[in-house]
Amino acid sequence: MVNLTIDGKQITVKKSATIYEAAKEAGIDIPVLCYAKKLLPYGACRVCLVEVEQMKGRLIPSCTTPVTEGMVVTTTSPEITKVRKTVLEFLLVNHVVECPVCDKAGECDLQDLTFEYEVVKNRFSGEKFDLPTDEVNPLIERNMNRCVLCGKCVRVCDEIVGYGSYSFINRGFETKIATAFDRGLNCEFCGQCVSMCPVGAILPRPFKFKARPWQLNEVDTVCGYCGNGCTVTLGVLNDKVETIRFNDKTGVNDGNLCIRGRFGYGYIHHEDRIRKPLIRKDGQLVEAEWEEAIEAVVQGFDRARNEKGIGVLAGARLTNEEFFLLKNLAKTLGTGNLDHSGGECYKGVTEGLFETLGVKASTGTFPQVESCDTVLAIRSDFYETHPVFGMVVNQAVKRHDAQLFIVSDKKGKFSKLPHAKTLLGKPGTEIQILNAIARVLLDEGLAVTEGVEGIEELKIGLAKFAPNEVADRTGVSAEAIETAARALSSAKKSAILLAYGLPYTAQSKELAIAAANLAILTGNAGREGSGLYLCGEKSNSQGAIDLGILPEQGALGAKAMLEAAQSSNLSALYVVGEDLLTSYPDRSQLEAALKAVPFLVVQDIFLSPTAQQANVVLPATSFAEKDGTFTNAERRIQRVRPGVSSPGEAKTDFEIFEILSARFGRNVSYTSAAAVFADIAANIQEYAGLQMEAIGAQGVVWGGDILAPKKKRVVAVAAEDVANSEFLLVTGSSLYHSGTMSTRAKGPLSVVSEPYLEFGQEDAKKLNVVDGDMITVKAEGGQIKLKAKVDRRLPQGVVFAPYHFASAEINRLYKGEAVVPVQLSK
Ligand code: SF4
Ligand code: SF4
Ligand code: SF4
Ligand code: FES
Repeated sequence: MVNLTIDGKQITVKKSATIYEAAKEAGIDIPVLCYAKKLLPYGACRVCLVEVEQMKGRLIPSCTTPVTEGMVVTTTSPEITKVRKTVLEFLLVNHVVECPVCDKAGECDLQDLTFEYEVVKNRFSGEKFDLPTDEVNPLIERNMNRCVLCGKCVRVCDEIVGYGSYSFINRGFETKIATAFDRGLNCEFCGQCVSMCPVGAILPRPFKFKARPWQLNEVDTVCGYCGNGCTVTLGVLNDKVETIRFNDKTGVNDGNLCIRGRFGYGYIHHEDRIRKPLIRKDGQLVEAEWEEAIEAVVQGFDRARNEKGIGVLAGARLTNEEFFLLKNLAKTLGTGNLDHSGGECYKGVTEGLFETLGVKASTGTFPQVESCDTVLAIRSDFYETHPVFGMVVNQAVKRHDAQLFIVSDKKGKFSKLPHAKTLLGKPGTEIQILNAIARVLLDEGLAVTEGVEGIEELKIGLAKFAPNEVADRTGVSAEAIETAARALSSAKKSAILLAYGLPYTAQSKELAIAAANLAILTGNAGREGSGLYLCGEKSNSQGAIDLGILPEQGALGAKAMLEAAQSSNLSALYVVGEDLLTSYPDRSQLEAALKAVPFLVVQDIFLSPTAQQANVVLPATSFAEKDGTFTNAERRIQRVRPGVSSPGEAKTDFEIFEILSARFGRNVSYTSAAAVFADIAANIQEYAGLQMEAIGAQGVVWGGDILAPKKKRVVAVAAEDVANSEFLLVTGSSLYHSGTMSTRAKGPLSVVSEPYLEFGQEDAKKLNVVDGDMITVKAEGGQIKLKAKVDRRLPQGVVFAPYHFASAEINRLYKGEAVVPVQLSK
């Protein structure tokens, strides 16, 4: 610690603090423009100048100068004010004066400082800039006439996002921020630069002219998309979410958001939201009153439970409290057939983890990953599935020189990070590669084996996974496998990341076991600063696991429920918050199951293809209308708060479950989400002792930052043979979308508006395919047509199609396998 004096106040701060940070900690305000907590010190704008006695009274930038013992600092004096005023005058030489029409008015740092320092006239003069506004993209407007060259946009895009869109071009007065070749912005549209810009130079277009900042009611809640669980601040005006705001004071994301979190809120007020219950009459879904709809559901379920039973399928976007009520409702209905994912993916992953580590969740927390020295990412480029977690990995690599290994069938943004090593294997070979890494750890005596069960069996199980043999089968060199094994074993802090979700269903259990084997053999599991991270696809995937939205012993999981429905062995299906027909694998089975099941209830916010098949549709609410908690992929329980009221007569899933439970004679009626949470704490061991009111801004991580494994048991897992075909289709997530909800959100849709089939350049050349060509994709399950998109990241023989779009019907071909052998033609 260091002692210093600022404006006569004695202060003790960390050695690593800058003068600005020390002053801030002591409650002393120094103006800043180019400083941002999450960016590296820069020192460009000079408005933060202060006087330091030991430096002969010189003025120095407080945001870049570290504190030293005994330092005496003055932050305000007539001279300092004069200099700051001059700095502002310089900034305003070329700056246009158009505050009345600028969307940043009211929250512009330059405007505020100009007011505070009374810059009423300018002693310097210069020509005002007249640069054209960049509005070629639908989401971000750039008006460089307002820019103060603080460099925050350049830095955030490089340091945090890892994209590097911007740089300074020209010199002196001509200096400006531009993209490569000074073209319009064409990037991933995360909007990080929007949130960083202290003036109105970079603005979110969807929010333009919607409201002044002081008119907005701000509500902190959790993003409704992926398992990263970022805090989003809803900017609400007149019961409408007009914008998502940047908040770096709460949550895990330091104010960072991806395109889905920042621009994907449009679906909340979509005109297609269901506003009234619907009942099928004479083959048509017609609007009905709630009472009539509930009565129909009660009768249908009552009949079904006395016949062949009911199956309940939920999407992982409900709150923990809603899951708890749903589980109890299922019990009341007398069914243990409960699940939250098709294709067994969640079930497989949790079973695999439980078998090896005895836990069903990540063992570490996200912030720890930033200081890891080795990171192994499996199957997914987290920039696509969990973009803000991807940003944490970016910082581990760029700020802490972490070695990054990626086991994947395609390259992504991760592969472009400095010194990243992509173990680019044929699709569906991840388990083989992980097994080979485990084999090297054991063969070279690098493995931690003390206290580990199953080592001998594992050695036998790994007989067929010598690196050179695996290299032949997968296309990943033995050397790359050995390098990864050695790096993981020598790392003091390491992270192993595994994404899971609907498009990644094949061999989920085996993959989770293979990853857990590595976490055990490298000593990663349960070690301080290290962890195995299981990243669920949806906002409350972990909550669904914690709350037990999985089949009971002997009961049916999602796949089995659909099979039972198809063969007329189930009398009703209750689908909550999921569009099975679009997102589950195997469309023909789904169609047959939904057709065969005598009674189908769908509870959702849109009339999805699945809802269109229902006997009764119950209108539910989005995350922005809910109260409760979500648990993210690092076990962090966070508050979800309602910002707006439900449209029409839609009710929250909470209310609907309460009504149905009461109708089936369950006499517990909860007055609030907090009351349910109290019951969760009393019933679910991991949540014991927690109270909803006590969940603070950073949430509560159940099990603590390091979740100690309950056991360490390595298990040999076999790997399926690699499919052989000229072309292999893989599906998965695309950065701009998450699940199917984002396909109703204007923001993501304005960037990626329709389904596509992605080709590598070699294949595109071979087949003479260019962007936009219509391609027929044929497989055993049928054929579909998709628009071609040519990119660089796919190896030869592999094509990719995101699964989010209902119109694409990818699941006509995809039945839950790792890869689909396909034939392609124009
Ligand atoms: S939107 Fe994101 S990727 Fe695009 S320039 Fe801004 S920070 Fe970079
Ligand atoms: S555009 Fe904004 S963030 Fe970027 S340098 Fe200019 S003022 Fe700073
Ligand atoms: S989609 Fe995921 S990464 Fe993006 S803002 Fe939402 S929670 Fe964060
Ligand atoms: S804030 Fe310190 S120089 Fe810009």
